[in-house]
Amino acid sequence: MKKDIKEVIVTEKQIKDLCVKLGKQITLDYKDKENPILLGLLKGCIPFMSDLMKYIDLPVEVEFMDVKSYHGGISSSGDIKIRMDINTSVYNRDIIICEDIVDTGKTLDTVVRLLKHRGARSVEVVTLLDKPEGRLIPFTPKYIGITIPKVFVVGYGLDYNELYRNLPYVGILKERVYSK
Ligand code: IMP
Repeated sequence: MKKDIKEVIVTEKQIKDLCVKLGKQITLDYKDKENPILLGLLKGCIPFMSDLMKYIDLPVEVEFMDVKSYHGGISSSGDIKIRMDINTSVYNRDIIICEDIVDTGKTLDTVVRLLKHRGARSVEVVTLLDKPEGRLIPFTPKYIGITIPKVFVVGYGLDYNELYRNLPYVGILKERVYSK
């Protein structure tokens, strides 16, 4: 896998520090809320959510949704499908959506609107990576680990054609991998 990576842009050490920082912020902001739901968007959220939740020092419920926006390519199709829905009611609940990356903003805009429509009391987003130059609609996550330029990255949950999710860092994929 490593031979396909042009450059590491977020190291394991940086990721750990970002998880600690975000976990502390969320702990502080949600200390008076009753059992917020940490809602991971599969599959990209897996490493980030499992690290981040260790640093949220509050009782939280953990739930998942599988929302598909990319179809094996390197740019957003804008076509969003809910493949697996959350398993509990969000009515009157405080939701923290946990995402690997925000690019066009379409996935999160759709999910936030859906959860609010279902009666969630509050919906905020924590993302490890933010690619603001990729936005097609205005969307600002409340908690951002690190802002990156408009490049296609893999690792730490992020995939190209379902591969590279298990890299422990975030890196830029060599162009020859997707121009084959
Ligand atoms: P958005 O709806 O365009 O904001 O897309 C967010 C989703 O697109 C993320 O959850 C990822 O699955 C995918 N995505 C966006 N940028 C990248 C990238 O650089 N590498 C891998 N997946 C990406």
